Amino acid sequence: MAPVIQGRGSARVGFTLYAVVLVGVMSTFLDVTHAVQWIVGGDAKWSYLHSNAAPTFYNDWASNKTFQTGDTLLFEYDNSTHTVLQLATGVDFTSCNLKASITKWTSGFDSVFISKAGTYYYVCGAPSHCEQGMKFSITATGNFVAAPPGAANGTSPSVTTTGHASPRAHHSGILTAILAVSVAATFAGYV
Ligand SMILES: *[C@@H]1O[C@H](CO)[C@@H](O)[C@H](O)[C@H]1NC(C)=O
Ligand SMILES: *[C@@H]1O[C@H](CO)[C@@H](O)[C@H](O)[C@H]1NC(C)=O
Ligand SMILES: *[C@@H]1O[C@H](CO)[C@@H](O)[C@H](O)[C@H]1NC(C)=O
Repeated sequence: MAPVIQGRGSARVGFTLYAVVLVGVMSTFLDVTHAVQWIVGGDAKWSYLHSNAAPTFYNDWASNKTFQTGDTLLFEYDNSTHTVLQLATGVDFTSCNLKASITKWTSGFDSVFISKAGTYYYVCGAPSHCEQGMKFSITATGNFVAAPPGAANGTSPSVTTTGHASPRAHHSGILTAILAVSVAATFAGYV
């Protein structure tokens, strides 16, 4: 009788391991869908008229959204009249201190990849546009693991001109799978 019980026990542990690994692998795919490409300003895109009509337009646009690491901000605009600047601090942002720009984009179709959690400040670099409301900040949360530089020709905030959303992989599902296997293995040790 004992060998039969043992066999059943092993089968159960084996199945548990399989199920847990499967869930981990599935979450890898689910995590990919978490990454969002946000078109800044929605239908209005990145434009002076809309912000001028409603000075809080971009702030309103950003305020009810949940930004996560791995997301991308897509700035679409007429680059003969607008740019995108990332400012360093909230103080610079509040005062529209364009000199505190740490990154500048000018292509008119700029994909800004959010690789790290934090607060980011974006304004238009054209004179007075920031004061008129072409400005917003976002706070991104999450623990996205960026792909190695160049691995997928990904873009990063330090890239000044780019036209494409960067392909990216989310690693937390893989980590989940590894963790799940460890937990299952530990559990198997007690059976
Ligand atoms: C944010 O607000 C806009 C406009 O009011 C609305 O259409 C959108 O569904 C809201 N998004 C979220 C995530 O609440
Ligand atoms: C503005 O956009 C055009 C394409 O629409 C591009 O050829 C040009 O290089 C851009 N200008 C700057 C300063 O990036
Ligand atoms: C990707 O980057 C490499 C090295 O920077 C470059 O040689 C290659 O042409 C790029 N591929 C694409 C599709 O842009």
